[in-house]
Parts: sequence; structure tokens; C-alpha cells
Amino acid sequence: MTVDQAPRGVTSPTGCPVSRMAAGFDPFQGSYQVDPSSSLRQARAEEPVFYSPLLDYWVVTRYEDIKQIFKNPEVFSPRITLDQITPISDEALQILGSYEFAPGPTIVNEDEPIHTQRRRLLMEPFEADNVATFEPKIRQVVNAYLDRVVKTGRADLVDDLLYEVPCIVALIFLGVPDEDIETCRHFGMQQTLFTWGRPDGEEQVRVATGMGKFWRFAGGLVEKLKADPDAKGWIPHAIEMQRRHPDLFDDNYLQNIMMSGVVAAHETTTNATGNAFRTLLENRSAWKQICADPTLVPKAVEECLRYSGSVVAWRRMAVTDTTVGGVDIPADGRLLIVTASANRDDDIFPEPDEFDIHRGNARRHLTFGIGSHTCLGATLARLEMKIFLEETSRRLPHMSLVPGQEFTYLPNTSFRGPEHVLVEWDPQQNPVPADRP
Ligand code: HEM
Repeated sequence: MTVDQAPRGVTSPTGCPVSRMAAGFDPFQGSYQVDPSSSLRQARAEEPVFYSPLLDYWVVTRYEDIKQIFKNPEVFSPRITLDQITPISDEALQILGSYEFAPGPTIVNEDEPIHTQRRRLLMEPFEADNVATFEPKIRQVVNAYLDRVVKTGRADLVDDLLYEVPCIVALIFLGVPDEDIETCRHFGMQQTLFTWGRPDGEEQVRVATGMGKFWRFAGGLVEKLKADPDAKGWIPHAIEMQRRHPDLFDDNYLQNIMMSGVVAAHETTTNATGNAFRTLLENRSAWKQICADPTLVPKAVEECLRYSGSVVAWRRMAVTDTTVGGVDIPADGRLLIVTASANRDDDIFPEPDEFDIHRGNARRHLTFGIGSHTCLGATLARLEMKIFLEETSRRLPHMSLVPGQEFTYLPNTSFRGPEHVLVEWDPQQNPVPADRP
């Protein structure tokens, strides 16, 4: 629906009239899909918190409001974070039931105080020292994938590199045995559409079947890892925590973190790196700077996460009557907090629409959230993005975007990354002699 066609006389749950801009807001298509932060520029300036009748959510667009929501989990609960944003059909529900699909709470959507008790026990594998041990393996996998294309002169960075590598890294990090990586990779692909997309009747059935199978598979994997005393990774760590604290972790919880861990670690990073390559290659002088001086890569990563992050919106629910940015939100009101919009708030980031890898405060972006639920995998994600950029800029500094390509994005509220990024280069000019045809 366009703004002009917005219905008249629609009111929010608090009885306030809904503006035409709010009534026309549709995050599944149009300008939000093309560029969520720019699509909300007017809202940020004129109506920073508005009710969307299409979603039945309050949409929050400014940095300070979003930060306060993240930092106040007692009032703004994360319990709806993984709910399907599109109501699920009866047929899909029946399919899920046939697989005994019963996702209970998992770390990202649970309330305090149990969330912090569990998070403390689960966080050791995410600490910087442990994440650093993955660096040689990630570099090796990235280079193995680059080897496949470096002499060809043309690649789709997403299909040829960015889709598979973060998935492999995620599964190694979780502790999935080698022989199950392929199956797990296949199942993991269903979840984004299921949770944050707008699948129609037929798609709902297909996706529900995939989710049901994945649920069973995840349960089987946990059992397999329990039986292996030498297993290493996040899930084996969680199994050990269950042994020590059986009151805090049941089997359902382990099955849940197995399943949600795949989506948390995979597409987020694939998309973030796809956005980063697109942005850097469109801003050629920044790309040239990191090619000439790789020590700039960490700053570039941060600015890419700010300027074009891969998680663009997250969700919370008010547990009591409250206000956000001066707007009354009733208890049970659901909030779509658009972090991509916060990242372009000019109260925090001067000239927010400029892409500047030397920006002093880029790291204040909210792409990983902030507060008690802030992304546990941020160190790993940053490391992966750094290695992708370092290795690709070292071996293919002369690559450029194939002109005229149209960038497409899967329609959903929260996860954003290009489906394809086509690049080309002259392989005769490859700087590493062994990379030349
Ligand atoms: C660029 C990549 C990534 C982005 C943009 C991202 C973003 C996010 C966001 C927005 C949250 C929710 C924060 C909140 O509710 O306050 C989150 C939570 C989480 N992420 Fe990530 N993430 C990324 C990569 C990863 C990776 C690689 C892993 C695992 C290896 C991971 C594991 C988690 C976990 C376990 C949580 C739940 C933390 C909690 O609720 O206490 N993430 N992430």
C-alpha cells in the first residue's frame, strides 16, 4: 500500500489517529526493502514512534529511544523476538505438531533474571581468547573458497564465498560433527523466512516441513554430542553446563540453542559481509584505502555494520503501560525497533548518510543490539568479516562490481543482505603470481 492509498480513520490501540505515513508503512516491500534507514528518514524527523496497523507493531526509529528499550529488559521484554511475524496457517501448525516442534525459550528471547544466569554460564566459548583460536581455520576456509574463483575473472561473492563460509564456521563453532554439516546447512536456510518473512500459504507448508525436520535433527544432534565425551564447541559446552546445573538447562533448551544458534551465526554474517562488499566496492576510494592499508579493515568493518548492517530491526514487547519517545505504549504492545534507522540518526552520527571508514564513533552502531542481550557472537562475526575483507582485498584488489546489476533482498523485516553480488576482474592482473591463470 502506498502512502497516498492509506486508509482514513484508522486508530492505534491507544485511540490515536494513525497518520498516512504510518498507515502506509510496509516493511515487506518497497522502500524499506531497498534501504530501511532512508525509508524511515521522514519518520525519524517527524514521527519517530508510530503505530503500524499492517503489523500491529509500534515502530521505533530513533537511536536514543531504541537504546533505552534495549537497556530496559524489565519493561521491554524480548519474549516475542522469535515469534513468527506473519501469523501461521492452521495447515502449517498441524505440520509442526506432527514433528513435535516445541520451541521453548532460548537465550535470545528469555526474560531476566534467568537469562543472565544462563548467559553467564554459556558465554565462555564466545570470549575473545577462544574466538581467536578460530582465526587460522577461518582464513584457510576463506582462501580455499577464493582458490575456486580467483583465476576465473568473475564471481558471485554471495553464492561462491559468503553463503557457505559463515555457515561452515558457525557449525564448527557450535560443535556440529563434520558428517552432519551438510544436512544442518540445508535445514538452517528455512528459518529466516519462517520467523521474519511473509510466506504465503504454500510457502508456509514447505517452510513448516523444513522447520519440523530441522527441529528433530537438532534434537538428534544434541543426543549425539552428549554421547561423545571429546566433542568441542558451544553445544558441548552447554551440555557440560547442563551436567553441572541441571536445574538451569533442560534438553528442550539445548535443542533450541542448537537450532537457533545456526540462524544466529550464519545468515547474519553472510548478509553483513555481502552488504560490506557492496558498500565498499560502490565507494571505491574506501576499498582502495583498505587494499593499500589492511590495518584499516577493522574500522571499515564497523562503518559497514553501521551504514548497512545485516540485522536491521529487532523486536520487544512492553510488559506494562509505558512511553517511548513521548508516545504511550500499552502493556502487551509490540515494538519493531529499527536499528538500521538508529544507525543513521544524525543526533549521534554526523552526516549519517555518508559512508566514512574513518568515522570516530561508528562502533556505537546498534546492529548487535546493546545491553543484557547484546549479540554474544559479535567478536566472531567481526573476525569473520575482517578475514573476508583482508583476504579478498589482498588477492583481488582490482575486482569491481559488474555494472548494471540489480541488488535484490529477501522480503523480511529484520535480516538484510543482497542475494547476489556479482564482481569481475582481470585474472592476468592478479597480484599473487600463483593466482594468475
Ligand atoms: C554480523 C553478524 C551478526 C549480527 C548483526 C548479529 C545481531 C544480533 C542481534 C541484533 C542480537 C539480539 C540483541 C538483543 O536482543 O539485544 C543478537 C543476539 C545473539 N547473537 Fe548475534 N549477530 C551476528 C552474529 C552472530 C554470530 C556469528 C553468533 C554465534 C556464533 C551470534 C550469536 C548470538 C547469540 C547467542 C545471541 C543471543 C544473546 C542473548 O540474548 O543474550 N550472533 N545478535
